[in-house]
Amino acid sequence: MTKFLLISGSPREGNIDFILKRIFESINGEKELIFLRDKNIKHCSGCLSCDKSNKCSIQDDMDEIYKKMIEADVFIIGSPNYFDNVTGLLKDFIDRTNPFHETDILKGKKIITIVVGGGDIVNSKRVTDQALTYFADCHNLDLVGSYCFQALNSTDIEQNPDSLKLIDEIIKNI
Ligand SMILES: Cc1cc2nc3c(=O)[nH]c(=O)nc-3n(C[C@H](O)[C@H](O)[C@H](O)COP(=O)(O)O)c2cc1C
Repeated sequence: MTKFLLISGSPREGNIDFILKRIFESINGEKELIFLRDKNIKHCSGCLSCDKSNKCSIQDDMDEIYKKMIEADVFIIGSPNYFDNVTGLLKDFIDRTNPFHETDILKGKKIITIVVGGGDIVNSKRVTDQALTYFADCHNLDLVGSYCFQALNSTDIEQNPDSLKLIDEIIKNI
């Protein structure tokens, strides 16, 4: 049975959460949806001890997330566009996956990335193409889909028929 790990990098209960919850409810398999804002995830300290040990020297909620990442087959990661980048929450998570870098631990797992931005969709596409594609490449993940939505206020997505259609398309392609 496919194991899905969905991760929200939004600090609020808004558009990314709506999209991820919709997907979560529609997919079959083992699944878990993590809201990074509910977790205690410290910044990477930059000690680089993980380069030698493949383990992080910090003990916090990333310990449980590392285990879930190793077990998962598919990651579905969503972030709002903040200053044409992922949120700080998601960036901290990404930095803390450095223990997996230069290993084959995540190799071949699938990843789907989703970004929501209040401005032009072209800007949010840059976020998926740069920050998230690079994350996928570094871990030898198989990037099977990248999606961008335009929405500013927290309930914009659920009120937009085109966005709802795109969510259905994502679900169909999973
Ligand atoms: C600090 C901050 C920076 C933002 N920067 C951008 C940006 O550079 N480009 C953009 O399109 N939207 C930007 N936005 C708008 C958010 O991407 C937008 O409100 C989005 O719907 C938030 O997603 P959420 O509801 O899932 O949290 C920014 C919002 C905040 C709070």
